[in-house]
Amino acid sequence: MRSLAGRRTSNPSILGVDNTWYSHLASVVSLGAQHKGVNSLAELHEARAEHLSQFFTPADVVAFHLADRLAAMDAAIRDSRGFPVAILDNSMGSGRMFQFADRRNTKLAGFDIHAESVDAVTAATKAAGFRTDFIVGDAGG
Ligand SMILES: C[S@@+](CC[C@H](N)C(=O)[O-])C[C@H]1O[C@@H](n2cnc3c(N)ncnc32)[C@H](O)[C@@H]1O
Repeated sequence: MRSLAGRRTSNPSILGVDNTWYSHLASVVSLGAQHKGVNSLAELHEARAEHLSQFFTPADVVAFHLADRLAAMDAAIRDSRGFPVAILDNSMGSGRMFQFADRRNTKLAGFDIHAESVDAVTAATKAAGFRTDFIVGDAGG
């Protein structure tokens, strides 16, 4: 297993992770980005109900946050004695937070109220050989 610890970058390519498995999901457009938009604060509540506040995190922002946590993740993987370390996103959308995960030592877990997104992430991660635990669920209910 090649350690990613110590790398400090916001550039996904420099993270050194092969995430080509994610290329199809990367092109999924969020419900929010497809929405016609609002003209007033009054319309905002209705719009959020329609698009579920679904906006996906840009890859460089994911990489920026991940770079800050690589040392802790590597330590958890070292301490796990071969068991996969879970990465959980409780509003996973199109799985942006999973795109740099290493299938050899991590398990991806999460849920989202938007079934279409969960189905797409489930199919792509299974095809890529990840261990997964995804469900369609409502964090508020
Ligand atoms: C801002 S997006 C974030 C998606 C992803 N974590 C990312 O970083 O790209 C929020 C996600 O929460 C989901 N969501 C909205 N309401 C929810 C609820 N009540 N329970 C679970 N998921 C919900 C949306 O479908 C959307 O995918």
